[in-house]
Amino acid sequence: MNTTATSIEGLPPGPRLPVALQTLAMVTRQRPFLERARRRYGTMFTVKVPGLGKTVVVSDPELIKQAFRAAPSVLHAGTGSPLRVILGSNSLLGIDEDQHMQQRKLLLPPFKGQRLKRYESLIAEIAAQEIDGWPDEVEFETTQSMQRITLRAILQAVFGAEGAQLHSLEELVPAWMALATRLVLAPWLQRNLGSRSPWAKFGALRIRIDAILDELIAAAKADPELEERPDMLALMVQARHEDGSPMSNPEIRDQLLTMLVAGHETTANSLSWTVERLRRHPEVLRRLVEEAAAGGKALREATIREVQRTRPVILFAGRMAREPFELGGFSLPVGTRLLLAACLTHYDPELFPHPERFDPDRFFDKLPETYEWIPFGGGIRRCIGATFAHMEMDVVLRVLLERVELLSTEAPDEPWAIRGIVLAAGQGGRAAVRRRVPARDLTPQPA
Ligand code: HEM
Repeated sequence: MNTTATSIEGLPPGPRLPVALQTLAMVTRQRPFLERARRRYGTMFTVKVPGLGKTVVVSDPELIKQAFRAAPSVLHAGTGSPLRVILGSNSLLGIDEDQHMQQRKLLLPPFKGQRLKRYESLIAEIAAQEIDGWPDEVEFETTQSMQRITLRAILQAVFGAEGAQLHSLEELVPAWMALATRLVLAPWLQRNLGSRSPWAKFGALRIRIDAILDELIAAAKADPELEERPDMLALMVQARHEDGSPMSNPEIRDQLLTMLVAGHETTANSLSWTVERLRRHPEVLRRLVEEAAAGGKALREATIREVQRTRPVILFAGRMAREPFELGGFSLPVGTRLLLAACLTHYDPELFPHPERFDPDRFFDKLPETYEWIPFGGGIRRCIGATFAHMEMDVVLRVLLERVELLSTEAPDEPWAIRGIVLAAGQGGRAAVRRRVPARDLTPQPA
């Protein structure tokens, strides 16, 4: 890597293929294409994809650190994000600088460690209910099942939804999210082309969802026991801006939907990848079952981290230069898009020996390095739900290990597939299970 004192004006070199071929490779063979470029050009190279603008892919931990630590006025993550149009102008994912810091401060308290413990038994119950419905000794795809678990977990733990409102949201949200994904990927559809157009349907669904969210906010405001409530909506209703004013309904609604979009499919796909990995690693699976029976969790936590290393469901954290930005010996011009690439960094043999090997022992009783293991991004934009997601994956995996025997397979690894904005197991994270009789105890384990 060129790190001379005098920076080179412009972008680092990168693949010289015609733009059309680079675009095709980024869509259909993204990982091999990027791996090849890294071998050829090193840990910082430029790719050319129409619609993305000047794009530099970065995979060196030191450079990633510099990007994550850059001043929020120099590198933006929200402005220009396609999610802003979809999630509303208050969404944490679509704002920057002071506005971002203010909203992030308001939203952080519910995500702090001890608070999250309160959600463990709720999530265990949701997971048990879903897993008890799995067929016996028949192969099936787990992704949708995991999506039902993570959707319900967010609607109950974050939104505080119950009863009829929970059921209505469970019906409306998947349809809204499917349209949202389509619209993010096809921005030219983001206009009203008649009442049956995706944009019009999306708007109509959002109105119905907003009406339910307004009901939930009104009920929280009227709840005499608001302070005792564990859900995050209750905390948002009590939060105050620096000037003492409460969060407005549009602010709360945009942030709730942001949590949903950011936290639902990401966690679900990480869980279906966990099933996919464990069926192909029977020895790890055997140790995990023994550990769960003995009330431990160190290997389980390490396993979750290794799944996220080897199958990072969000391949890149994105940043956009608003001022010229010095990185790796280059002075990157305004408007450069940086893709901080978990999918490359996690496979660097100098950081993770034999990177293709699925080996949870790498992280046994040992936390990963902040800028080498980046499935949740980093810096002031690091995933606000990372601890929640880790807890949720831990609880769901424990319940799974306790209630069913996951049957191993010799089938080849499932291929990487980009579904919407996440990396999914290409065959849906197929499982085959045998029920354990009787199912083991579900009480949360001590930390
Ligand atoms: C395995 C599960 C998850 C993965 C892999 C994941 C990954 C990420 C990544 C890569 C980012 C961008 C970070 C950056 O730009 O540096 C992010 C941001 C974010 N995530 Fe997650 N996430 C997960 C679960 C969740 C959950 C459960 C929630 C909420 C309940 C959540 C809420 C958010 C929010 C609100 C942001 C924007 C943060 C900001 O801009 O300040 N995520 N996530």
